[in-house]
Amino acid sequence: MEPVSNPDLALLLATGTGDLSACADEAALRVWNTRYFGEKGEMVAAMKKLPTLPPTERKGYGQEANRVKLQLGEAYGKALEAESEKALLASVNATPLDITLPGRPPRRGNLHPATKMMREIYGIFADMGFQVFRTREVEDDETNFELLNMPPHHPARDMWDTFHTTTPGVLLRTHTSPGQIHVMKQFCPGPIRAVLPGMCYRFEAISTRSEIQFQQVEGLAIGEGVTMADLKGTIGAFARRLFGQERQVRFRSSYFPFTEPSIEVDIDWPKEDPNADRLTKGTGWLEIMGAGMIHPTVLRNGGYDPEKVSGFAFGMGPQRIAMLRHAIDNIRLFWGNDLRFLSRF
Ligand code: PHE
Repeated sequence: MEPVSNPDLALLLATGTGDLSACADEAALRVWNTRYFGEKGEMVAAMKKLPTLPPTERKGYGQEANRVKLQLGEAYGKALEAESEKALLASVNATPLDITLPGRPPRRGNLHPATKMMREIYGIFADMGFQVFRTREVEDDETNFELLNMPPHHPARDMWDTFHTTTPGVLLRTHTSPGQIHVMKQFCPGPIRAVLPGMCYRFEAISTRSEIQFQQVEGLAIGEGVTMADLKGTIGAFARRLFGQERQVRFRSSYFPFTEPSIEVDIDWPKEDPNADRLTKGTGWLEIMGAGMIHPTVLRNGGYDPEKVSGFAFGMGPQRIAMLRHAIDNIRLFWGNDLRFLSRF
């Protein structure tokens, strides 16, 4: 900025600047501001001199006075800012705050216990060469029953209480077995090793062990010379991977329209488990799945020639398995959306 030549204004600038630097705190700065910039302050007084000057000097004086005003004003602004910075620093030092302390992290969610169980089951079967094959939850009567060797009015249909839609012949699948037909149609005449997971629905009275909605994992292997021994070996290996090497596996004969022969699979439950009696109804054995050799009619319905190939199938309820694993005594907890339950897994 150009120098100020008028001696009065130069003095004003010098004393103003000097006084400002002598201010020790914000209060002093405010007092300074009133003194120089207030209504009755030095700056106003300097401006008032203007009309008393000879006309030739007025312009130069006015310009210089404005420069002084600007300079002092700026200096005041800076001093005020420096002062508030200093005050902040002083308060931070007076009440120390450790800003390096980590904050509280937001709680991370976890996978649903049913999802974890499913992934564990996929993992075990993947190791044995089974791929995951997804099929639809809304099915037609034909695929859910007829092609699985259950014509209309077949008494075995009573094993599956069904939700029907308002469209005749369209229903919510009662098991994952109709997926057998879909996977066979897709891969025939080639060999198959697949697990078919998914939600199933049954029109049932809800209880601690039965829900109207639950997951199943179907398994299927088809090829030349597949035998019951392969089924036993596969299920035995699966059960021991899931429940431990020391577990015994028991095969009981059973009945399903789509397998022949049909079996149910139990595992022995540790006697030292306090829940053993309740879980096994006192028998020491616990059912984990239905299975069997795929019925020739079903193979044919999937496009295969039962004279050339054979296969086995099984179906299990992962919710029941998770209940055993974690001593969960109520199947309703799975879809109840209660975080107290879900966050424990
Ligand atoms: N679909 C049967 C059920 O829901 C289980 C099963 C699957 C049995 C495959 C044999 C073979 O009970």
